[in-house]
Amino acid sequence: MSELVRFSVSLPRGLATRFDQETIGRGFASRSEAVRDVMEHFLTEREWSTDETEVVGTVVIVYDHHDAELGRRLTHAQHERPGSVVCVTHVHLDERWCMEVVILRGRAVDLREIADRLVGARGVRHGKLVCASLTDPEEAPA
Ligand code: NI
Repeated sequence: MSELVRFSVSLPRGLATRFDQETIGRGFASRSEAVRDVMEHFLTEREWSTDETEVVGTVVIVYDHHDAELGRRLTHAQHERPGSVVCVTHVHLDERWCMEVVILRGRAVDLREIADRLVGARGVRHGKLVCASLTDPEEAPA
């Protein structure tokens, strides 16, 4: 095994408890093993998205519409890449929460940048980018 590093992470107690319940209680030997697994998944998911591949994708975000500044920032992030945003569907979930589904098309690197700004915006409760490559699998390098 390669050299190990240790680092500490601050997070809400409820999140730590839920993480432990979903990992240590379900076959992971330790919290370290579970975090390693999550990090591997995260990095693998991102590897493809740094290139020039043409992809289509959706970003789904859930956020509090009472935060008017957040709404402006989310819209601004989409206006900066109008060529990549195909369409946006907005659903008013209840009195407080909104869900937005942003359909994107373009270079993987551009979609990742837009998604990071939307999902990473302070106040966004949930967010995820899902992409599919438009490259013909039979033409893709092995
Ligand atoms: Ni709404």
